[in-house]
Amino acid sequence: MTARTKVKQALDQGKPGNTILVKGWARTIRNSKEVTFISLNDGSCLSGIQVVAEPDLPNYEEVTGIGTGSALAVTGLLQESPAAGQKLELKAQQIEVVGGADQEYPMQKKRHSFEYLRTIAHLRVRSNTFGAVFRVRSALAQEVHRFFAERGFLYVHTPIITANDCEGAGELFRVTTLDLAHPPLVNGEIDFSKDFFATGTGLTVSGQLEGELFAQAFSDIYTFGPTFRAENSNTARHAAEFWMIEPEMAFADLADDADLAEAFFKRLCRFALDHCGEDMNFFNTQIDKGLIQRIEAVAQASFARMDYGEAIERLKKAPVSFQFPVEWGLDLQSEHERYLTEQVVGGPVFILNYPKEIKAFYMRQNDDGKTVAAMDLLVPKVGEIIGGSQREERLELLERRMLETGITSESLSWYLDTRRWGSTPHAGFGLGFERLIMYLTGMENIRDVIPFPRTPRHAEF
Ligand code: 4AD
Ligand code: MG
Repeated sequence: MTARTKVKQALDQGKPGNTILVKGWARTIRNSKEVTFISLNDGSCLSGIQVVAEPDLPNYEEVTGIGTGSALAVTGLLQESPAAGQKLELKAQQIEVVGGADQEYPMQKKRHSFEYLRTIAHLRVRSNTFGAVFRVRSALAQEVHRFFAERGFLYVHTPIITANDCEGAGELFRVTTLDLAHPPLVNGEIDFSKDFFATGTGLTVSGQLEGELFAQAFSDIYTFGPTFRAENSNTARHAAEFWMIEPEMAFADLADDADLAEAFFKRLCRFALDHCGEDMNFFNTQIDKGLIQRIEAVAQASFARMDYGEAIERLKKAPVSFQFPVEWGLDLQSEHERYLTEQVVGGPVFILNYPKEIKAFYMRQNDDGKTVAAMDLLVPKVGEIIGGSQREERLELLERRMLETGITSESLSWYLDTRRWGSTPHAGFGLGFERLIMYLTGMENIRDVIPFPRTPRHAEF
């Protein structure tokens, strides 16, 4: 029995004359009496290997009857291919139909819309586009870990169930085992002291607060995990479940934070170009012409940095009318973000020092009394891709800000403890992993870069 060879290995390293065994799914089949061509794909790369089946096969009749989507195991001889666009093809000596597929198989050859493919997300992964998306996604996830490992960052698994809802009050998915039909009540309200954790809990909106605790012991840490937000925004860039990478550095300020974000982002661009070539070429020709050129430019660029105040001035002068009027204090909307990065800068830009009213309580207060040391990285086509800040490390100021924003000290006593003992200036950020994949692939809807998207009214598969 020959050991299985993956298609990628066969195409990259195979030599004419090798006998190999490949296993995969038939993407396309072209039949005639004399010969049948099957493009066999096993997910290891975008290309399929062309299998050439001829009537000398004992089960040639069965082979001519198989449908697109069938699973096959093919033993054969690699030979030079006369066909254009491929060096090698596989002359079949034996074809085992492992799992057949009939005409009902929904992924027949013709092109389907992404909307339709979302309704068959369990099968869309067997298409060129989604094959490429999820190979790139996997490769990038591994590169994220390499980047931080090389820099001595500790990888920490922050909890997914959390009792602190201060960061995203109102956006939290509740976690409960209470009987929803008959919940225990006190004074007309649900009594969460009777719940599983004896307190109200939800799914995490960010690993940051716990990440900060670890940074105060390990100096440099990062999290990379699922994140949940129950915001009812049905946009192409929001998912209710997404993955976020959140580094946190002790003894670091906002400039250090932006430096890390820039190095990180550029590294991921470089990696996609250098190591995902076949898939990136596919995106560049089929999804977003100019993609490679744009990412190449970003990988080499020095990112612009602009204060929020200046961004507002630029937006005020813009010769376009925005849906949300521009004035100091405005929480930048997607239309503003995209104008800044696409029209004003023409590339990635950090917006720094936002008004404190529109940012979270934990951000470090600047001396002007109006702004906090926040930063967002905006990129063309996507808008905000990274959000971060230097954190308020001064106990009194943090407590005062919590009071102002209606957060009790008791609910976050453990967080305040880090400011009580051995407090350091520290900073971090969050990169939305799906937004990164959108940016690097040119895919325009977040639903098409996550395996099984969770969005308002959708939790299928
Ligand atoms: O700006 P955000 O809300 O920042 C935080 O959560 C901080 N705790 C991060 C930190 O400083 N450690 O979210 C960070 C990033 C955004 O820039 C965006 O890329 C992504 O997470 N993001 C989403 N991605 C998909 N769907 C959503 N609903 C998202 N919300 C945020
Ligand atoms: Mg943000």
